Amino acid sequence: MNPLSDDTRPAEFPPAFLWGAATASYQVEGAAFEDGRTASIWDTFSRLPGAVRNGDTGDVACDHYHRMPADVALLRDLGFASYRFSIAWPRVRPDGGAPNPAGLAFYDRLVDELLAHDVLPWVTLYHWDLPQTLEDAGGWLDRDTVERYADYALTVHDALGDRVRHWTTFNEPWCSAFLGYTGGQHAPGRTEGVAGVIAAHHLLLAHGRAVAEIRSRAPEHQLGITLNLTVAEPYDAADPGDVAAATRVDQLWNRVFLDPLLRGKYDDGLAAHTEGMTWRGRTWQEFVVDGDLELIGAPLDFLGVNYYHGDAPSTRAASTGRDLLGSRVAHPERPTRSPFPGGDDMVFPRRGLPVTGLDWEVQPEGLHRLLVELDRDYDLPPVYVTENGAAYDDVLGVDETGAECVEDVERVAFFDAHLRAVRAALADGVDVRGYFAWSLIDNFEWAYGYEQRFGIVYCDFATQRRIPKASARYLARVAAANRLPDVG
Ligand code: FCB
Repeated sequence: MNPLSDDTRPAEFPPAFLWGAATASYQVEGAAFEDGRTASIWDTFSRLPGAVRNGDTGDVACDHYHRMPADVALLRDLGFASYRFSIAWPRVRPDGGAPNPAGLAFYDRLVDELLAHDVLPWVTLYHWDLPQTLEDAGGWLDRDTVERYADYALTVHDALGDRVRHWTTFNEPWCSAFLGYTGGQHAPGRTEGVAGVIAAHHLLLAHGRAVAEIRSRAPEHQLGITLNLTVAEPYDAADPGDVAAATRVDQLWNRVFLDPLLRGKYDDGLAAHTEGMTWRGRTWQEFVVDGDLELIGAPLDFLGVNYYHGDAPSTRAASTGRDLLGSRVAHPERPTRSPFPGGDDMVFPRRGLPVTGLDWEVQPEGLHRLLVELDRDYDLPPVYVTENGAAYDDVLGVDETGAECVEDVERVAFFDAHLRAVRAALADGVDVRGYFAWSLIDNFEWAYGYEQRFGIVYCDFATQRRIPKASARYLARVAAANRLPDVG
């Protein structure tokens, strides 16, 4: 029996279900200043005192840039049919300027390598590494960045579009907008209140611009976006403050993206939760121009959903002192704020659920509920779970044959419980087409640096050795059988 799930139903997946593993450029590539790459906002941010645990940076990371063929072979050996990776904008258009053939050549080789191993490339165009020069010019608060992004997206599409069919415009724009411009936990580390909503609008608009351009060039390509979504519930359902806090989280996390993308409009509740807030004297609504919402709301071929945990905010139980990112606060020396505009009085008290190494609560039923509620509330395109996974304090050991191993039983239980939740959503009629584990390999976990390990493959950062963990073997078995092992 899985300690994290009491679901013992038979768990076949549909025949064409896509099994994959995911990474992101800044988290794995390294080679930060090679072949013409220039600084992204994460190169800058990671050098700010106190921004990232232990002063870690992505300068070397997993050295994937140089070890890519072996990593692709490893992925294939584990039986994954798809690799979700992202393109580093400052590698292919350094400083946001002209295309850089040497940078593009890396992704060209990567795509060829994947196809040679019969692995489907699943490209994310933006996983947070904005060229620093564009941030200096205003970043996602400047509408011009939208045009720069559309140009960049077409550069990549021109280079890889003959072989890549699946395109994700953005990964988790919530983090870019709200951790980047409201909370300051992520690059560029700004704490400017409702600016997060303005950044969100520009990110959505950039998505819409890229979709329109790519669609007109390659109508047969599959275009989508990946959102990190949560199930938000009041910590205390009888407390009106907690109920309002949960609504604020739902609005400023889920609906700020879902409604414009899938309904072509911002929900009135978003305006209510940001009433009276301005950035440099303007409301976020003043940044929305006629025609924007038509672009943003154009049909999608798929929606990527990343799920890690649910969230139960409170405005009263402040004494527990647990913030959004868990009690293992990653940024002790930098001033940060709530990533929810107007949410500085919110805390996220523990609910007694099991937690991961990051102190994130483990709530697999939340994934089931999230998928069912999305399907109920929106006219959804096919859904892919594009990230799900957990950090635990892995221990490198030696097995009976003398080989190095990591017996990450908690992570195995985590994956198993969440896959049962996906299976339950499928049984309830939600059109889930695939699942990507986060992550193929331990990597640079943003503000937590290398301290938190999310990989199904262990990375010894000193030697760059790769050691598949028990969770990799578990997922390989599941992918090969296209079903979960029997339990009970
Ligand atoms: C998500 C990010 C991904 C990774 C996981 C743990 O928010 O998309 O890059 O850091 O969290």
